[in-house]
Amino acid sequence: MSKLIMVSNRLPFHIERDGSTHRTTGGLASALEGAALENEQIWVGWPGGVEEDFEDLEQVRAGMLTSGMAPVFLTKQDLDGFYEGYANSTLWPLLHYMVERTKFSNDWWESYRRVNQKFAEVIMEVADEGDQVWIHDYHLFLVPSMLRGLDQGLRVGFFLHTPFCSSEIFRVLPDRAKILEGVLGADVIGFHAYSYLRHFRSSLLRVLGRETEMEGLWHDGREVRMGVYPIGHNHAGFDQAMKSPDFLEILESHRKDLAGKRMILNVERLDYTKGLPEKLAAMRRFLEQNPDKRDDVLFVLIAVPSRQGVQEYDTLTEEVQREVGAINGEFGKVGHTPVQFFHRGFPIANLAAFYATAEVCLVTPLRDGMNLVAKEFLDCQRPEFSTRPGVLILSEFAGAANELPQAIQVNPHDVDEVATALNRALEMPDDERHKRIEAMQSRLRLQDSGAWARRFLKDLDNVSQREDRIVVMKMKPLAAEVAGHVRAGRKLGLFLDYDGTLRDFVEVPDLAVPDPELPGLLRELAEHPKISVALVSGRAPEFMERYLSGLGVTLVAEHGYRWMDRGQGEWELFNPHVNTEWKAAIREHLEQASLLTPGTHVEEKQSALVWHYRKADPEFGLWRARGLLEELTSMAANLPVTVHHGQKIVEISSLQVSKGEAVDHLMRLWGTEVALVAGDDQTDETMITLSPEGVKFFSVKVGKGPTRAAYRTDITGMRVFLDELRANLRNSPAVQ
Ligand code: UDP
Ligand code: G6P
Repeated sequence: MSKLIMVSNRLPFHIERDGSTHRTTGGLASALEGAALENEQIWVGWPGGVEEDFEDLEQVRAGMLTSGMAPVFLTKQDLDGFYEGYANSTLWPLLHYMVERTKFSNDWWESYRRVNQKFAEVIMEVADEGDQVWIHDYHLFLVPSMLRGLDQGLRVGFFLHTPFCSSEIFRVLPDRAKILEGVLGADVIGFHAYSYLRHFRSSLLRVLGRETEMEGLWHDGREVRMGVYPIGHNHAGFDQAMKSPDFLEILESHRKDLAGKRMILNVERLDYTKGLPEKLAAMRRFLEQNPDKRDDVLFVLIAVPSRQGVQEYDTLTEEVQREVGAINGEFGKVGHTPVQFFHRGFPIANLAAFYATAEVCLVTPLRDGMNLVAKEFLDCQRPEFSTRPGVLILSEFAGAANELPQAIQVNPHDVDEVATALNRALEMPDDERHKRIEAMQSRLRLQDSGAWARRFLKDLDNVSQREDRIVVMKMKPLAAEVAGHVRAGRKLGLFLDYDGTLRDFVEVPDLAVPDPELPGLLRELAEHPKISVALVSGRAPEFMERYLSGLGVTLVAEHGYRWMDRGQGEWELFNPHVNTEWKAAIREHLEQASLLTPGTHVEEKQSALVWHYRKADPEFGLWRARGLLEELTSMAANLPVTVHHGQKIVEISSLQVSKGEAVDHLMRLWGTEVALVAGDDQTDETMITLSPEGVKFFSVKVGKGPTRAAYRTDITGMRVFLDELRANLRNSPAVQ
């Protein structure tokens, strides 16, 4: 049975120099601890510390392997450049919209790449064919594509536990394209919230120029799925902790210490994304505005030390400590300190006791991928342990806000709003508290971390098993079948579109010249005595003649208006009587659209006019194209033209011209017995929908979108087909 390889920067336990192990703090570690999955599991990650400090690495590794963990050791240099540098001083602030805290360094990037490679290598050491590899978080964006380079047989999932910022922010990152390409090595990419997926998609569009569907895209001959999977908390873990004698003892001692005071709780890693200074400002405002409540409430701040060594965190710690001191100095009195600050982590039983005794939980991050503290608080509020139902105050910028609409939601930057929310929470009547909390609890118990993990892994399993996951997979058998016909002596006609079928689109169409292998491949196929090849394109004759002539291939330009027979040097018209009088009226319309849409232009062909918007803003261009299509379609109702929306173009061409007509003509001319047509856009459908009598006909759609073709692939798959066809026919002479 295949196993599950979990991969995260931190292992759920870290090892100290003296060999002792400790539980890791942080949402990712605590949630996965409770995921309780059935598969055999191994966890790959950093054991903490630096490599130089371990005396015998092999011994540590062997020891950890027996507990299901494969360590990735980091050197001091890795720790500086990868962990403290690129991961936590570049990506972390950027993904949380804190551009002013984001620092860039080439050395950090190099270190990030190197450490991602280390992770990929350790994964390969423990992986077997068919295993599922689940990579977590922003530290490891490059690992999916690195794994892809090392092994095609693994099933790779990637999950981001932070927000994915708007593309306008992400664009700032110098290595933005490499990061995106890195993640695209995964089969399934998961996010906590829909907005993160939306921003990821718009980054793919704006940085890589990749258009995607909501569910995913095709990349490098594979299907990449994307989805939204909000993580749940470790419900089972808290349940168990709340049954322990430790918990009951701590609960009792809290009650005694509180002596009737009302606890407002705050639990987090000491991180600037959590908005602790803003929260302290709101507490101060609350105390100022509500003198009657000052002696009644106790703010408990648990701020677990985090990423000490990164300067921003050290500065924040000092700032927070100063402000806590200032508030206590101002509002405290003998026997009452309004803010109790714990700068340390607590075991789960202690946390559960805090959650159960608190009356209000104040969760106000400035940005947070999810925030599990909010969910844990709600879960631990149980009638048998809590005197009144608790109230959750939650930042609208936490991923959890989507799932918890019954919380009092606040803008954490608005100090007055948070102070008012505190008062409102304390004043809230029990029946309202009860209704709110019950609605949230029933959702959370079903959506715990185990349910979350199982959902993601199920999708990873499904996508991996779908026959067309690797779109090139079907191309090899197709090539073998077509080659079989040729070997049996039948005449094959290959009718291939060029842009989007044999060659990727680029911003300047004239630069989309054939790659070095393509001419040789086409020539060799065309030299076969039983094969005729035609390139059937919308391009103007000049481009085709310049880059694609002399290969023994017939060229068809302008969607079937002109053609140059193989071996001939002259262009001819398929139909010399084509009417083009309509062009004047349409041209004016298109030129107007170009003036209004920067980055667009009109191309004039003999039998067509084309409005190109590849260089326009992608969303603006598409919006304008849709408007244009509507206008042109009504204008064209009485003209002998067809209007079509292609890859970043709107084309108006003469009705009497089509690729289908041209291919039909050539098939008759050549006496084709077996035909294969392939194309990527709507104009190619005129070839794809042909049904020539007595001809064995294969049709291939390249890329997404509606089609009547029997096969679907992408550019990589198309090339696999042609390569395989050539390989099948080499050394096997045709029957004459
Ligand atoms: N946590 C803990 N001990 C503590 C304080 C917090 O184990 O003393 C855990 C807490 O239970 C929660 C996690 O740390 O599961 C914090 O996760 P969250 O999603 O709120 O934020 P993150 O730290 O991942 O940014
Ligand atoms: C967040 C991140 C995790 C990380 C955790 C603790 O939850 O999403 O990937 O492990 O913080 O941070 P640390 O730097 O201590 O691992």
